[in-house]
Amino acid sequence: MTRPACAVIHLDHLRQNFRRIRSLAGEAEIMAVVKANAYGHGLAEVARTLAEEGCRHFGVTDATEGQALRQALAFPASITLLSGIFDQHDAQLAAIHGLTPIMFNELQLDWLRHAGFSGSLWLKVDTGMGRLGASQPEKLLRSCEQAGFHIRGLLSHLACAEEPNHPLNRQQIERFFSLCSHLGLPGSLLNSAGLTHEDTERFSCVRPGIALYGSEPVPSRPIGLKPVMQLQGRIMQIRDLPAGHPISYGATFYTQAPTRIGIVSLGYGDGLPRQLSNQGDVFTQGRRLPIIGRVCMDYTIIRLDDCPAEAGDWVEFWGANIMANEVARQAGSIAYELFTGVTDRVQRIIRE
Ligand SMILES: Cc1ncc(COP(=O)(O)O)c(C=O)c1O
Repeated sequence: MTRPACAVIHLDHLRQNFRRIRSLAGEAEIMAVVKANAYGHGLAEVARTLAEEGCRHFGVTDATEGQALRQALAFPASITLLSGIFDQHDAQLAAIHGLTPIMFNELQLDWLRHAGFSGSLWLKVDTGMGRLGASQPEKLLRSCEQAGFHIRGLLSHLACAEEPNHPLNRQQIERFFSLCSHLGLPGSLLNSAGLTHEDTERFSCVRPGIALYGSEPVPSRPIGLKPVMQLQGRIMQIRDLPAGHPISYGATFYTQAPTRIGIVSLGYGDGLPRQLSNQGDVFTQGRRLPIIGRVCMDYTIIRLDDCPAEAGDWVEFWGANIMANEVARQAGSIAYELFTGVTDRVQRIIRE
């Protein structure tokens, strides 16, 4: 039997989230961000499901991911490379597979010219994120046009979209629109959080990622998303321990009284944050139960108290009952890191 450490992927929830996002996006085109293996959910299944929902534009990290996505999709679709191209080989992949890179310097333009690329590009600008962006967008735009490349628009990224009232949002939006009108280009700026609180009609394209996967981008203003991933292990053994018994590495927990514990088949080697040691919860048999002792590479120990759980029962670490956002807060992280941190040895089980 395969070790029971599973990420159940609920495609019906993905569909519902996409529809919810579509209702918020208005006339703006949706670029579904499926980079990093669709945030750990499985690139092919996620992209195919979204394509069935009518999505025709996807965002991945680089040309290697773009090639994998092109091969997985039965529908014609636009595939944007959100980190652009890294070398001549990437430019060739972009040319062969009809990928749409972002562009922020002249060197990338040279690579594309040499590759005989004839597709379109996004011009990437920094409006306040302090990350990638053309230092002279106007000059780069002219070079692109001279090279005969079609520029799809201006693309930038919000730094503080999770905080709707953060003053940087307004500053970035103003800078962005002033550049768009100066260069005469349509624009794409909003990620999941941005599209929950900004006027999407002003943009040609929005770029939701985390919202597709059901994690509320602004938890204080939920928009009714459904968690797509449910991370689960199984109770391998139940034990009754006397009071004063140490639990797990470092003996950081001692039973206060006779205690029933469960040993669950999932640990930090599967992507469960070790920071949940002695503070996280799991969900089984309709109950939340505490994690006790340190999370191990392959196991996590839980206190069962009077819960009627049995060996073989499934235990949820995050999913519909315990939100990934809550787990991430406890672990000092974000849902993005939890999802992308689920390791390859965890089986992805696809549910329609
Ligand atoms: C350039 C860019 N656009 C869009 C997204 C999607 O962001 P989110 O997952 O917050 O919706 C990301 C994610 O990191 C990104 O880097």
